[in-house]
Amino acid sequence: MKRTLKKIQKMKKRKIFLVAGARPNFMKIAPLWRELKKFPSQFSSYIIHTGQHYDYEMSRIFFKNLGLPRPHFYLGVGSASHAKQTAKIMVKFEKVVCDQMPDIITVVGDVNSTLACSLVAAKLRVPLAHVEAGLRSFDREMPEEINRVVADALSDYLFTTCEDANRNLRREGIPQEKIFFVGNVMIDTLLSLKREAQGRNTWKTFGLRKKGYALLTLHRSENVDKKEVFVNILEAFRKIGNHIPIIFPIHPRATKQIRKFKLGKYFSSQPNSGIFRVKPLGYIDFLNLMCDSKFVLTDSGGIQEETTVLNIPCLTLRKNTERPVTVKEGTNIVVGADPRRIVREATRIINGKEKKGKTPPLWEGKAAQRIVKVLLNT
Ligand code: UD1
Repeated sequence: MKRTLKKIQKMKKRKIFLVAGARPNFMKIAPLWRELKKFPSQFSSYIIHTGQHYDYEMSRIFFKNLGLPRPHFYLGVGSASHAKQTAKIMVKFEKVVCDQMPDIITVVGDVNSTLACSLVAAKLRVPLAHVEAGLRSFDREMPEEINRVVADALSDYLFTTCEDANRNLRREGIPQEKIFFVGNVMIDTLLSLKREAQGRNTWKTFGLRKKGYALLTLHRSENVDKKEVFVNILEAFRKIGNHIPIIFPIHPRATKQIRKFKLGKYFSSQPNSGIFRVKPLGYIDFLNLMCDSKFVLTDSGGIQEETTVLNIPCLTLRKNTERPVTVKEGTNIVVGADPRRIVREATRIINGKEKKGKTPPLWEGKAAQRIVKVLLNT
C-alpha cells in the first residue's frame, strides 16, 4: 500500500516554486531552473521574485545575463526596515501560495526574502527546500545569520555546500535524513558562464590592465552604516590605491552612505587610479573583472566562494565568515575592518606572496543536478 502511494506521488507532476529576491539569489536559482526544465513531466517550475532588489543593475540585468525568463510572480516589495520588508513579503507571498498551491517551495541563501518565504511555507505546511543550508557565522549581529538559522529550522530539505554546514545542522538537531550534501549552485552558474565572461575584457573598458587592479565590493551594514568604521576602511583603501588601482562597482547602500557621510573625497575622478567608483555591474562583467583581477576585497558572502574557485586571492572585510571552507581550503583571508591588517595583507599580495588554494569538494558545476535528483527520488 505504502509503495503504491509513493508511486502515485512520483507520477503526479509537482509544482515547484523557486524564490529569489536580492542580487545574490538570482545566480543560485538559475541552474535549478534549467535542470528542472529537463523533467517536464515531473515538474512545473515557477520563479517568484519578491522585489527586495528592484533597480535594473541589481535585478533585471541578472535575469538577462543568466538566461532566466521574466518572473512568473513579481511581488514588488522594495526596500524598508527589516520588519516591514519581511512582513510585506510574507503577506504578498502567502497570497500567491494560497492561490497556486505549490508542492515544494525552494528558497536560497540568507536574505530577508529567504526568511519571509520560509515562514510562509512552514505555516502553510508546504514542503520547504533551503539551498545553501547550514552556513553559520555564529554572529547574531548579522541579520543574515538569523535568516539562515530560521530557514534551516523550518526546512524539510536542507541542501548543503560543504562538510562544516552538515556538521552545523547536525549540531542543531536537524535529522540526518533531511540533510543533502550536494555542492554549490552558485559555482554551477560561475562555471557555466566563465568562458563567456573571459571573452569580454570588461577591465579594458575601464582603462585597466589584466592583473593590474584590485576589485572591491562593500555594502554590509557593519562596514558602511557607521561613519568611523567606513572612514577607517576607506583610509586603508587609499593606501592600497597608491600602489594598484581599485575598481569599486558600488552597491546602492554604499552610495547612500557615502552621500550621507560626505565621503566623496576618497574617490578618484580618474577611471584607472586610486579607488574609483563605477555603477553596479551585471553578472558577466563582474565575473570578467574577478577573473582578471590581481585580488579582490569584499564583504560579500558569495564572492568568497567565487574567488576560491577562480583561485584569485580574496581579502574579506568582516570579523568572521559563515564560509570557513574558503579560508581553510581556498584563497580567502578574513581581515575584518582593521586598516593595518587590510593594508598588510594587500601588500603581501601586491608583492607576489598571495595565498594559494584548492577547490572544495563538489564545487564542480553539478549541484543543481544533484538537487533535482533528490527531488525526483523523494
Ligand atoms: C541584501 C541582503 C544581504 C546581501 C545583499 C546583496 C538582507 C538582510 N540583506 O542587503 O544579505 O548581501 O542584499 O546585495 O536581506 N537599494 C536600491 N536598489 C535596489 C536595492 C536596494 O537602491 O535594487 C538600496 C535601498 O536604499 C535599500 C538599500 O539599498 O534601503 C539596502 O537594500 P536591502 O535589500 O535592504 O539590503 P542590502 O544591503 O542590499
